[in-house]
Amino acid sequence: MRERWARLLALASLPVVLVLALGFGWQQLQRGQSLASATDPELWRRLYPVHVASYMQGREHDIDTEHDRLAENPFRARAWAGLAFELEYNAPRAHYYAQIDQRNSLRTQERNQPAGCIHCHAAEAPALVAELGWDTLNAMSFNDIKTRVHHGSSCADCHQPGNMALTITRPALRNALQSQGIDPDNAAPEQMREYVCAQCHVEYFFSGDGNELVFPSENGLTLDNIEGFYDALGFSDWTHAQTGADLVKMQHPNYELHSQGPHAAAEVTCVDCHMPRVPFQGTQITDHWIRSPLQQVQQACMNCHRGEAERLAQRTLRIQQHTDDLLAADRVRTQRADGCLDRRPG
Ligand code: HEC
Ligand code: HEC
Ligand code: HEC
Ligand code: HEC
Ligand code: HEC
Repeated sequence: MRERWARLLALASLPVVLVLALGFGWQQLQRGQSLASATDPELWRRLYPVHVASYMQGREHDIDTEHDRLAENPFRARAWAGLAFELEYNAPRAHYYAQIDQRNSLRTQERNQPAGCIHCHAAEAPALVAELGWDTLNAMSFNDIKTRVHHGSSCADCHQPGNMALTITRPALRNALQSQGIDPDNAAPEQMREYVCAQCHVEYFFSGDGNELVFPSENGLTLDNIEGFYDALGFSDWTHAQTGADLVKMQHPNYELHSQGPHAAAEVTCVDCHMPRVPFQGTQITDHWIRSPLQQVQQACMNCHRGEAERLAQRTLRIQQHTDDLLAADRVRTQRADGCLDRRPG
């Protein structure tokens, strides 16, 4: 008797469970689909209020943080004579500003630029590639495409809507990985914590008459690999206006540089330092502000390093200073009292 009742009850509740499951599945699908086209991070707030608030800290904090890197070192404008960078070059700021800063820069205001510029500066880029096709988009100009882009970066740059798994949305990285024989769809989770950033934080160039955006990493990620790739192609970014030399300007090879360092060797990823776990609004999350780790050395570094956070920060600043000194030829020259390394005329 008991058994019969139990069976009846199970049978009776089956449709209910089915309806609930289908409903839930449908809802997830709907969420995924509606968010897939949601290029405005604000539209993700209903489902992920804490993460959107975390991301938007960059907007609030960086409102007045233009940092002129040409004024900081006047030699830069001269080094880039004839290249758009001679007009304006600033320190980067929060991802929220990626499109705003691009369209306001004198580099796009006063010089023609290719549409490929939006690849890393617009949440709409993947949808526009799907709509127009990669080759058509690349062949357009920035001025033609800029009315179609509104948000610098959004959640779907790095996440699959629906299950929020990390994902590669940018074609130039997919192409670069494939050219190295790597399958972009089968990366390990740890590797994805670098690939999401390597979609944008890399050296790039515009190839051929069709201005295709390409990452020059086919031969590997070292400076020699990249230089060799450019030499074989006979590529240069521009001809220097004062010396007539054909030159390449490396952009922001954060991924390539990181890959050569001690942290990558120890499998420490970009996310470990730039998006550490932090307490925020009463819970623990992956930090979505995405900024300098030196602003929170305790959270960003001290899970792995022992000793005092302040000492590690000072050590990092010393390494930066050393690199700056190597770059600043003038400073090196004045440090060489005998001047024997300075063979420049005058
Ligand atoms: C492969 C991705 C990528 C492409 C393509 C790209 N950018 Fe960027 N851009 C970045 C990243 C990453 C930063 C921030 C890092 C940095 O500035 O060091 C940045 C920073 C900037 C900035 C702010 C800092 C500065 O340099 O003044 C401007 C403006 C900018 N880019 C304009 C452009 C223009 C114009 C183009 C096309 C010629 C372009 N970007 C193409 C990734 C890209
Ligand atoms: C630049 C890439 C990037 C962007 C843009 C980004 N995320 Fe993330 N997000 C990550 C990474 C990396 C993790 C850690 C997940 C991992 O390692 O598996 C993460 C984790 C999460 C998680 C899981 C919970 C947690 O705290 O770890 C949620 C939810 C999330 N992100 C929501 C968002 C939302 C909402 C936005 C848009 C406001 C967004 N993300 C934008 C990279 C990104
Ligand atoms: C879709 C392209 C894109 C992706 C993906 C991306 N970035 Fe960026 N990132 C940019 C651009 C563009 C800027 C410069 C925005 C500006 O200055 O207006 C930037 C700026 C930054 C800055 C400087 C912020 C500051 O306040 O100084 C850091 C740090 C950074 N990104 C780290 C990362 C890390 C780490 C990842 C991966 C988890 C990542 N980014 C993924 C394009 C991207
Ligand atoms: C071991 C920690 C660590 C790892 C791993 C790491 N970074 Fe950084 N990153 C730093 C520190 C420290 C700075 C310097 C911040 C400062 O000077 O305020 C920095 C600076 C930056 C900047 C700002 C540069 C500028 O011009 O202001 C960007 C962008 C960036 N990193 C991106 C990345 C990306 C992308 C990866 C992975 C490929 C990565 N970082 C891996 C610690 C790290
Ligand atoms: C996930 C773990 C992890 C995180 C997070 C991390 N590190 Fe490291 N760090 C390491 C490991 C592992 C090494 C390599 C140790 C070795 O090879 O002896 C290292 C090495 C270093 C070195 C020595 C580099 C050299 O040339 O000898 C410095 C400096 C350093 N880290 C600074 C930092 C700073 C600053 C941060 C935060 C922005 C940070 N680390 C975050 C694990 C980490």
